[in-house]
Amino acid sequence: MAKERIGILGGSFDPIHQGHIQTAVSALEACRLDRLYLLPAGDHAYKPSSALAEDRWKMVVAACSQDSRLLPSRFELDAPAPAYTVDTLLTLKKQHPKSELFFILGADGLLKLHHWHRLPEVLSLCTFVICPRPNVPRAAFEEEKDRLIAQGARISIIRARAIDISSTMIRDHLSRGLSTPNLYSPVREYCALKGLYGMNRQVERSEEWIDRLFAALTPHRFAHSLSVAGFSRRLATIHGVDPGKAEQAGLLHDCAKCMPLKEMQVLARSHRLTDDPTVLSSNALLHSLAGAWVAEHEYGMKDPEVLEAISWHNTGHAGMSRLAMVVCLADTIEPTRESFPLLEQVRAMSRISLERALLMSLEGTASYVISRGKFLHPRTQETIAWLKTLPEVREKS
Ligand SMILES: [Fe+2]
Ligand SMILES: [Fe+2]
Repeated sequence: MAKERIGILGGSFDPIHQGHIQTAVSALEACRLDRLYLLPAGDHAYKPSSALAEDRWKMVVAACSQDSRLLPSRFELDAPAPAYTVDTLLTLKKQHPKSELFFILGADGLLKLHHWHRLPEVLSLCTFVICPRPNVPRAAFEEEKDRLIAQGARISIIRARAIDISSTMIRDHLSRGLSTPNLYSPVREYCALKGLYGMNRQVERSEEWIDRLFAALTPHRFAHSLSVAGFSRRLATIHGVDPGKAEQAGLLHDCAKCMPLKEMQVLARSHRLTDDPTVLSSNALLHSLAGAWVAEHEYGMKDPEVLEAISWHNTGHAGMSRLAMVVCLADTIEPTRESFPLLEQVRAMSRISLERALLMSLEGTASYVISRGKFLHPRTQETIAWLKTLPEVREKS
């Protein structure tokens, strides 16, 4: 049986950015790795970081939800003292004795390898995968590479364009409110909601909510919730809706999504959330009503408009508020959503008209559901009919 090929990418990830993800994916593909561990350094590491380890960890978890081959690891975070690479490699080798280890390093990192603790042992334990970096002197790189190979190093060089993104630059952009296209949208929203790197925190209880959501949701759902929060704020700002409420509703909208259906049913029955049997038998339909209850009673959200937006974010509701429209729409078209046929048209329309974009989105959902012979809840059909009566829609169609 072929050995499993495991990649390792360490760093402070302060914060994790798309350059890290691109590096990881390039290494996965170039070296045909089966999986790759991302190891954020602990707060006791040699290089001081700006954000606390637990925040850096949650951002790494959210970012890794983009690709199932990327696995966040707490190995270095939970180490009682700064972990040397040799310790990490020895432990991984013990855990996966039949594997081959690949340690990913930037070309600039290779020039510093000779300082590493117990280097001969490190060289015997892994293959180094070297990623191109800008401004690394070629002659010095080649000389160092040859010297290491003569010492027994196995080195594989990835032939790709050098990635010129740094966490330092991203921290600077965040602190100055500049755009950060190289930051995965949930990570950017995490920084904003936690007030990291000099950003202004705008939602009062967001720190506490984020930690609760991180514990209650899968990584994918957690990242989606952060992204819906940010996208709801942007949509609300465009359309004159309260951006703070939109961000809160967006963040909490799926707070019950990962609750087992049985638990949700008990909650719904004991608090009389609905007696509709189709809603009661479906996680996709029930989690919004259960979510509004959880948001109110467990997260302390008392604003009825925010709770209404959470209640109707999946099916819509005839007569729903514009805040509820914002969240319903953001849920479908936030930046991390997988592509679907009308996605780009709905996104473009969302900058022009909330009502027309929501109608387009719900009609798309309805035809998709019906074409697959699945059940479309009548509330969605009623919402479509209601949206068509609105002046904003009638006058423009
Ligand atoms: Fe949802
Ligand atoms: Fe959602």
